[in-house]
Amino acid sequence: MYAYFSETLLYLCFALVSGAIIMNGVPERKKPELRIPGMLLFNAVIGIAVLSLVPVIKNTIFLTQFAGPFWEIIDDVLLDLEFGKAWIWMFLLCTAFLALLSFRDLNRHRAANGIAAVLMLGLLFSYGWASHAAGQSESWGFLAQSFHLLAASVWIGVLLTAGWFAERSDRWLPFLQWFHPLAVVCVLVIVGAGFVMMAYIVPDYTNSWIISYGQALLIKHLLIIPVLAFGFLNGYRLKSKLKRNPHYDPRPSFRAESVLVTLIFAATAFMGMQRPPHDDPENPEPLVPSMLFRAIYGGDASTGLQIEPGFTLAGVVLAVISVCLLVLLIRIWGKNKPWLAACAGVLFTVSAYLSLMLSIP
Ligand code: HEM
Repeated sequence: MYAYFSETLLYLCFALVSGAIIMNGVPERKKPELRIPGMLLFNAVIGIAVLSLVPVIKNTIFLTQFAGPFWEIIDDVLLDLEFGKAWIWMFLLCTAFLALLSFRDLNRHRAANGIAAVLMLGLLFSYGWASHAAGQSESWGFLAQSFHLLAASVWIGVLLTAGWFAERSDRWLPFLQWFHPLAVVCVLVIVGAGFVMMAYIVPDYTNSWIISYGQALLIKHLLIIPVLAFGFLNGYRLKSKLKRNPHYDPRPSFRAESVLVTLIFAATAFMGMQRPPHDDPENPEPLVPSMLFRAIYGGDASTGLQIEPGFTLAGVVLAVISVCLLVLLIRIWGKNKPWLAACAGVLFTVSAYLSLMLSIP
């Protein structure tokens, strides 16, 4: 359990540091005034070094069953195995980053902010190197994972800093003029890279729903729909609201969207620690149906089952409820209740998930 929490926190640290670096690079007139505590950035970089060590320790503990006591094998893990070597690189990059932050305020020194951007790229690509997708393909798999994480960190990083560290401002329109196109490009990169990774890790999408990895991926995909609805509202509808009322405060809506995205991070953290569905010759153990799938499906949930969702009464009724919840989200957002709209987004995800699961004959 602790590992899912630490992984989610790690993704938030990646996003926060990326967002701060990008905002530092934007001219004052194109962004709201920001108050990002210096120590927060420092702690977020320490967080990246420490939290990215958690999966390394977890995997090393797993290897102690076959390779000997922890302290005897940890140096081999760090120096010989890809995920260990990736962490060594992250540790060195974080150390350089902390040294930079100790001597320079990134907000005042553009060159230092540029160096921080290069160090951050190194961290994201090092973490991408230790991933499932890179384990499957050292070229496209690695690049897809790294660009996926980079795009997610950039988009959500700016969203987090604008939502949680901005002062009241009348510069939201100039901010949206560059942030909205950036968010659209990031989402396209995220989705494109996501499908490339799925080609390597999840060869058969619907059949993967039987196991925990597939369940988490399905829930993640469904959570993306209300997030994209918020993205659309915070992109297009917010501009017209701000044109009508330049003093309108969009921060609560950015915060609500960032909480929904944190749920995606949590689903991804759980997913990344499950056994992926792709064939793994090194692990002959049969894949195990997930408890959630067995609980909802109820029938003989063996991994040989072919999942072909069809039209069932329960499935159709829940699908209609899901669409209504999505429309409700948009209506409630229009009435300036973004947190209630986010709740409708979570309810949409639950009903859409049940609709798909109960559509399996
Ligand atoms: C808002 C949208 C999304 C966000 C914020 C997001 C975020 C992330 C993050 C942070 C990771 C972990 C990277 C790592 O551990 O190195 C990840 C992994 C992944 N994502 Fe996404 N993602 C999003 C959308 C998608 C979409 C649309 C797909 C598929 C089409 C997808 C498929 C994957 C896969 C397959 C992985 C690899 C997990 C593993 O390590 O096994 N993601 N995502």
